This record gives sequence, structure tokens and C-alpha cells, in this order.
Amino acid sequence: MDTAEIDRCFEVAVGLVKEAGQVVREAIKKQKKIEMKSSSVDLVTESDKAVEKLLIEGLSKAFPSHKFIGEESTADGAKCELTSDPTWIIDPIDGTMNFVHSLPYTCVSVGLWGGREALAGIIFNPVLDQMFTAKKGQGAYLNGERITVSGEKDLSKALVFAEMGTSHDPEKVKTVLANLTTLMPRVHGIRAMGSCALNMVMVAMGGADIVYEFGIHAWDTAAALVVVTEAGGVVVDTAGGPFDLMRRRVLCASTPELAKEIASLLSQYQPTPDGDLSG
Ligand code: IPD
Ligand code: CA
Repeated sequence: MDTAEIDRCFEVAVGLVKEAGQVVREAIKKQKKIEMKSSSVDLVTESDKAVEKLLIEGLSKAFPSHKFIGEESTADGAKCELTSDPTWIIDPIDGTMNFVHSLPYTCVSVGLWGGREALAGIIFNPVLDQMFTAKKGQGAYLNGERITVSGEKDLSKALVFAEMGTSHDPEKVKTVLANLTTLMPRVHGIRAMGSCALNMVMVAMGGADIVYEFGIHAWDTAAALVVVTEAGGVVVDTAGGPFDLMRRRVLCASTPELAKEIASLLSQYQPTPDGDLSG
């Protein structure tokens, strides 16, 4: 895709994400209809489904040949296929647990991929009216203002976002707790906020220095990836190697030094990947 095509896609997507945000902003104040997915803490509401429908219908009307990977249109355990074709990767509500509890740390996340790389990302917290955007090679923005990472290199000064995730697999729980035990005495602070996409853009805007998580899905990171890298941050695998969208592990840091140090400290966990790995 050339720059003009990416720009047009971006404009259309921003319009639709604003509409989607309006749905979330209204629904967060109301009673929700909640269903469980892979576990008792992996939730979906009628708003997740409505937002995904709004986005896919709007984008496919504008770009009939484009492909989609959407959280709520992907059956539990189904394989995601990423080709080189233009593909929209959508998390209609990231932070569904927060949304269910009316906690305003929740967002709509839309990433555009082509040639197997991230071309543009839009992450919108409609409750706090924070729209994070980036296009490859053109910088990262919060509500139109340029953002950059903190540049922190010292682990003892780093604010770290960890997550519990949506699986109670005993090995996963053990890994999460082991990592908290390792990191607590070594870092400035640890938070678990409940939205992978928002966590990552917090690194992009300098509000956090490190984010790591095992068990996320492609739609949690697809849009935030380009926002973080355009803000000068690093996105790698939790063991420090190259990031793979399908691998369900992410480590995001304000500097390569921090990424390297934390990767060497983390106990690792490998969930079943979302799809074929690239390497
Ligand atoms: C979840 C959130 C959460 C993370 C989970 C994700 P969802 O997405 O990003 O922070 O810990 O791994 O699945 O279910 O709210 O869209
Ligand atoms: Ca999600």
C-alpha cells in the first residue's frame, strides 16, 4: 500500500472508531449483558459485538477487498490467518472486564496491516477522550499532539505494567506470580490496569516504561505496536527476540536497554499461538 492509500484508510477508520467510541461511552454507564468465553474472566458483552459489527461493516463498505481479524468474529481457539493483503485487526473493546465494571480504562483498537507489517494504528479511550494514533514512518500522536517514550533505561526507576490475563491455567498463574516476585524489589512500581492496548500506548506517551504479558491475542497488540515504535519505543517477544503477532507474548519498553534487562529476568510461558508463527 502506498502512503496515499494508507492515509485514506486511516481517515475512514478514525471516523468509524469515533462512532464506535460513542457506543462504548453510552454503554459503559448502563447495565451490561455479559457472556463468558474461554474462562470465567474472559468476557464479552453485547457492546463488544455491536462495535465489532459497526467497524467491520463500515470498513468493508469502504474497502471491499480488505481482510479482517476481529476478536469477536474469531471463534475460541480458531486459527487466525495473516496474509500480505491489507488486513484490519480489530479489538472492539480492549479491557472488557474494566468496561463491565464501568472502569474508564478501556478502548477501541484498530490496526491496519499490509505486507505482514503494521501500517497504522488507532486506539481510542472514549470515556477519557484519548485517541492514540500512528502511521508507519510518521510519528505517534495523542489527540493530534506528538508523543514520545520516556527514554528510561534504569530498571529501578521504571514503572512496569504487568497483567493477570484471562486464563487461570495453573502454569500461567505460577509464571505471573513468579514474575511479580522477581520484579517487585527491582522496579519503581508495578501496575495491572486491564487493557493491553492501553498499557502499550502508555509506554508510547511516557506514562509507563515497561509492559509485558503472556496470553494476549493478535488484536490486543496489532494497533498499539505501531504507536509504540513510532513513539521511539521497543516491542519484542517476552524472551527478547523479535515480536511475533501470533505468538501471544509481548514485551514493550521505552528503551532497548530496559527491554533486554527485563527479558533476562522474566520467567517464560508459551500459550497456544493464535496462528502460524512467521519465523
Ligand atoms: C484483555 C485485556 C487484558 C489482558 C488480556 C486481554 P479483552 O483483552 O487486554 O488487559 O490482560 O490478556 O485478553 O478481553 O478485554 O479484549
Ligand atoms: Ca482484547
